[in-house]
Amino acid sequence: MLPRCAAPVCHVLLLVLCLSAAEDFDWTKNDRSSSFYYGTFPTGFSWGAGSSAYQTEGAWDKDGKGLSIWDVFSHKKGRVLRNDTGDSSGEGYYKVKDDVSLMNELKLNHYRFSISWPRIIPTGIKSDHINEKGIQYYNELIDHLLENKITPIVTLYHWDLPQVLQEKYGGWQNVSIVNHFNDFASLCFEKFGNRVKYWITFNNPWSVAVEGYETGEHAPGLKMRGTGAYRTAHNIIKAHAKVWHTYDTQWRGRQKGLVGISLSGEWGEPVDINNQKDIEAAERYVQFYLGWFATPIFHGDYPQVMKDYIGKKSTQQGLGSSRLPSFSSQEKSYIKGTCDFLGIGHFTTRYITQKNYPASRGGASFFTDRDLAELVDPRWPDPGSEWLYSVPWGFRRLLNFVKAQYGNPMLYVTENGVSEKMQCTELCDDWRIKYYRDYINEMLKAIKDGVNVRGYTAWSLLDKFEWDEGYSERFGLYYVDFRSKNKPRYPKASVQYYKRIISSNGFPNQREVETWKRRATETCSSSNQLLAAEEQRSTAANILRLIHDPLTSHMEMVTEIVVPTVCTLCILLSAVFLMFLLRRRN
Ligand code: NOJ
Repeated sequence: MLPRCAAPVCHVLLLVLCLSAAEDFDWTKNDRSSSFYYGTFPTGFSWGAGSSAYQTEGAWDKDGKGLSIWDVFSHKKGRVLRNDTGDSSGEGYYKVKDDVSLMNELKLNHYRFSISWPRIIPTGIKSDHINEKGIQYYNELIDHLLENKITPIVTLYHWDLPQVLQEKYGGWQNVSIVNHFNDFASLCFEKFGNRVKYWITFNNPWSVAVEGYETGEHAPGLKMRGTGAYRTAHNIIKAHAKVWHTYDTQWRGRQKGLVGISLSGEWGEPVDINNQKDIEAAERYVQFYLGWFATPIFHGDYPQVMKDYIGKKSTQQGLGSSRLPSFSSQEKSYIKGTCDFLGIGHFTTRYITQKNYPASRGGASFFTDRDLAELVDPRWPDPGSEWLYSVPWGFRRLLNFVKAQYGNPMLYVTENGVSEKMQCTELCDDWRIKYYRDYINEMLKAIKDGVNVRGYTAWSLLDKFEWDEGYSERFGLYYVDFRSKNKPRYPKASVQYYKRIISSNGFPNQREVETWKRRATETCSSSNQLLAAEEQRSTAANILRLIHDPLTSHMEMVTEIVVPTVCTLCILLSAVFLMFLLRRRN
């Protein structure tokens, strides 16, 4: 069932990104639905939830933290929906104990969070200054997790580059950043590596490259179409490899941890499974997504199809060399094999069909380089983010693709989950329950297929700042009341459901699983009442504040009462005056 606040219009319209291809496509032909699989996960399977620094910490300018590109980007008008910022977000910086108790409530085995680079090295350059208060904060978080038997999985880069590095060097466009990132990573290994055994160098570098430097929707907001994303990715891959080698040679012996990367991969399914062109286009979609980063890391170089397509387009555009940079043979062997485990962030699926984009000189872009179009089935549920359709079967296919392409590496699902829209203060999130149930079930099937998945991370523990969408999309298992100063958390029904999956280590049998949803939704109505009462209280408090704050109430009276009244009077008077003039003429 859809949430009461999900926008039904989304289902009325077929979102067709390639109109020409959609016309004669029979959607029913490709129905991938399959039955539910009852069973449990391997013993020791790790269940977790995730977050990232900028999205949850707040305290953007506290205790010596430096600026990140997201602080600067979100403070510029018009970059983020409603001009929201992560300045205070869910105040996670001040709520370590509270949040760990929520994890305890879920009985999580691991918690995935990221370290804010400018919080511990304010300018991003280690020789400038190290911020001890920042180190102290992460020490406190790590210690508290371990005291509660929750394994920390730590991401080094979840998009919040120190602003100084962007201004001075052009951020990820400049290869000099590789050494600065390596210094930052080494500092983290030195300070936290005695306790942290799972390191993720980068989170979703695809977004950093494409949305940060190609379309400009994300910080730093650059629109270097056709080149920006490829150069960014090139430096990120080098930085990842360098950090892996640093750990391998200097820390692994003592600390015995693992270093991986978290890649996002949406699944691309051919529109027509009998059409070779669609099959190839769908494979290209996945290669330009996950393969762009995974292929160099596992095999030493970019996917052949990327080299062919971008090379061919660059020639047609009259360029002397490909817009896709190349690795030297030393670099290839240095990069190959730099992954102890692979993190997969997965949310949705697209149907893919072949579509040719003529190569024009000024029209180069990452998207047209792929020669494909993306489509969605209008029957797929899309309760929250406009891009996020719930298509569980795509998850199993993606996991099997990873197994086949990269030699069945050790996998952790580092992000998977679904959002709801802002206006929805619905804690009885039955659509999220369904999403988790079906996606986790497809992951279980993939494990039965032989895919080496060791852990799963629900995205996300809390509602938080959702990048350019601000607070308008809520991914949390826990609802955060952002309007209240103290940012209280309320459990959604999905907390109860996920908790049962964790305690049963899967889906033991039909009879039991069928009771879970009912029991989960029973508890949420009392949380709903609590939240409603809190909302009423804060509305009343706001009214009182207005009464007691003469300047604010005066301003509001001017804008809300005086201005409209004067305008209406002016219009009326002008009309009377006009009528008077017309009468006199007659
Ligand atoms: C991937 C990003 O890593 C994460 O920060 C974000 O919240 C999710 N996508 C959902 O958009």
